[in-house]
Amino acid sequence: MNKCLVCSASLEPFIDFGCMPLGNGFLRPEQFGDEYHFPMKVAFCAACGMVQLLHQPDRERMFHEHYAFFSGTSRYMALHFKAFADHVMADYLPDNDPFVVEMGSNDGIMLRNFAAVDIRHLGIDPSKNVAQVAIDKGIDTVTEFFDVELARRIVLEHGQADAFLAANVMCHIPYIHSIVEGIGILLKPGGVVMFEDPYLGDVMEKSSYDQLYDEHTFLFSVTSISNLFDRYGMEVIDVEPQVTHGGSMRYVIAHRGARSVSPNVARQRQREHDQGLQLPESYDRFRRNCEESRDKLMALLRSLKAQGKRVVGYGATSKSTTITNYCGITPDLVEFISDTTPIKQGTFSPGAHIPVRPDEEFGRKYPDYALLFAWNHAKEIMENEKAFRASGGKWIVYVPQVAILD
Ligand code: TYD
Ligand code: ZN
Repeated sequence: MNKCLVCSASLEPFIDFGCMPLGNGFLRPEQFGDEYHFPMKVAFCAACGMVQLLHQPDRERMFHEHYAFFSGTSRYMALHFKAFADHVMADYLPDNDPFVVEMGSNDGIMLRNFAAVDIRHLGIDPSKNVAQVAIDKGIDTVTEFFDVELARRIVLEHGQADAFLAANVMCHIPYIHSIVEGIGILLKPGGVVMFEDPYLGDVMEKSSYDQLYDEHTFLFSVTSISNLFDRYGMEVIDVEPQVTHGGSMRYVIAHRGARSVSPNVARQRQREHDQGLQLPESYDRFRRNCEESRDKLMALLRSLKAQGKRVVGYGATSKSTTITNYCGITPDLVEFISDTTPIKQGTFSPGAHIPVRPDEEFGRKYPDYALLFAWNHAKEIMENEKAFRASGGKWIVYVPQVAILD
């Protein structure tokens, strides 16, 4: 019997994706033979509200020295994190020598904004190659996994934190109890925790099942996060919906009673209730929506192939690994995936083994259709790729519906 990672209640999966490779496991042909797969099943805990993967691959397999994800590649994300940092500085930091810690600081896309105004900061990121980029830019970073033990060490060396930040990392961590307990130790009595992750409410509403992959151990809601932090004497004091990653939620959390609670929190919890996020049947409906989306997308790709059209994928995202493997998209349906990230170029997509090529190749001879795997960056990409459309090219999207954009 599987147990909830948060509250230990027993769990049944509501969707089974079968054996999936790692979302970010772009690889070379010589690695095809021993490609790692894990059984990907997702469950909803009716007791504490947490949506979670039932099995997790080893963390060392995912966030390692050669982790391919660099936050700094999107201009819009850079602006997003500048705005995040400005908000923290303007609304939450004390005047006197504030100290900011970020878990999953990546290449420093957020912390550089604090470093630029000489605010004491510390990044935490176990991926050495990515963290080195931040260190080279003068951003203080420790290359370790955050847990209770590291929290104690940071307090000894630097003192407690006024703000503990995280973006798109909290939901990655199966041993979440050690994280939240560590945050409780690290956070000053009047400090704030602010983190954001893809939001369950958006995923359910848009059937964006590609948010489910190995790295996303959890899909959070205000309800499940409130229950989790309550165990460690903390409470959600505000929530701020974000458009990033196809719909995220930023949670602002403090030690219980330390700060006033915004009415936004109760309002969002009511919305979650109205949406039925507490009901197991909502997750069955979600599964049916995913199946329908998969069938429509495959029917479309097969019909385009039958018409002799060229289809190219756009954005070798981790999310796309779920789409290609769950739907069964093969290189005869999608010729290659265009991506701007140098270390992904020349590799093949996990499981489906679709080649990843530089974006110049996309521009050299436009395909008839581009399947938008990086749909979370739709606005930025469509602005950059106006010439594709002008040349008669069409975008295929699958969130919230499978559609060809004319
Ligand atoms: P990302 O948004 O991080 O998605 P995930 O978390 O699912 O991996 O990935 C975006 C990918 O798309 C990344 O590999 C870079 C690529 N990309 C482009 O190729 N062109 C673009 O214009 C943008 C914005 C991203
Ligand atoms: Zn639970």
